[in-house]
Amino acid sequence: MNLSDYTKYISAETMMGPNSARILQELLEKCPLGLNADDTVLDLGCGKGLTSLVIAKETGAKVIADDLWISAEENAARFAEWGIRDRVTPVHADANELPFAKKQFAALFSVDSYHYFAAEPGFFEEKILPFLADGAVVLIGIPGVKNAYSGRSEELLSEWLGDEAYMFQSPCRWKEIIGKNERISSVDTWEMDCFDDAWEQWFASGHEYAHGDKKFFDRLIKPYTCFVGICVRLK
Ligand SMILES: C[S@@+](CC[C@H](N)C(=O)[O-])C[C@H]1O[C@@H](n2cnc3c(N)ncnc32)[C@H](O)[C@@H]1O
Repeated sequence: MNLSDYTKYISAETMMGPNSARILQELLEKCPLGLNADDTVLDLGCGKGLTSLVIAKETGAKVIADDLWISAEENAARFAEWGIRDRVTPVHADANELPFAKKQFAALFSVDSYHYFAAEPGFFEEKILPFLADGAVVLIGIPGVKNAYSGRSEELLSEWLGDEAYMFQSPCRWKEIIGKNERISSVDTWEMDCFDDAWEQWFASGHEYAHGDKKFFDRLIKPYTCFVGICVRLK
C-alpha cells in the first residue's frame, strides 16, 4: 500500500485522531489478506469513512462502513464524492447490536474505535464472532498502554483522557479480552510501529482536537501509550 495515494483524502475534515490510513497500512502489511471482489468486509466504527476508502481500494472487497456518531447519510454523500458509493455501503448501527446476517464477513476492520465498545471480556465471542465467516480475519488498530504499563492507564492517563482512560489497555491485556473460542485459530497482539507517523500526521492536520492532544504528547502520550495491533484468524 502506498500511503501517498490517499494524501488528498487525509485532512482535518476526515480525520478523527492519529492517521487511521497509516495504522491500516501497518495492519495490512503485517497481516496480508487474500480478498476478492465477491467478499464482503466490515469497517466497524468507520467514522468519516477514511479507512473504508482505503479498505475498498486496497482489498478490492465490498465494504460495509458502520458507525455510531456519524450518520449513514453523511457518509453516503462523502462516498459518492469519492466515487466509491457502488463499493462501500454506509450503515448507522451500534456495535452492541449489529444488524447483519450471520457468518457474512470475510474480514472485519476496526481502526481507532474498537476500544470504545469492546473492552469487556466476552464481547468478541458474543457480539462479533457470529457475523464472521469461517476463515475470516479481524484486523484492529487502537490506542492503548504499552505492555510495561498494563493495568495502569487510569493512574497514568486520566489527566489527558478523563473518564475514558480505562479504555486504554495493553497488547497483552487485549489478547486476554479477545479471549478463546473453538472457531478462533490465533490471536496476535503487538505494539505497532506506526505510532510516531500516525501522531505526527494528526498534529500536522490542524484539527482543533490535535492541539489539545499535543499538550500531553511528550509527557504522557509518548512515554506510556502505543497503538495496539490485533490480528485474529478464524479456522
Ligand atoms: C476516533 S473515531 C475513529 C473513526 C475511524 N475509524 C477513523 O479512524 O478515522 C471512533 C469511532 O468509533 C465509533 N464508535 C464508538 N462507539 C461505537 C459503537 N458502540 N458502535 C459503533 N461505532 C462506535 C464512533 O462513532 C467514532 O466514529
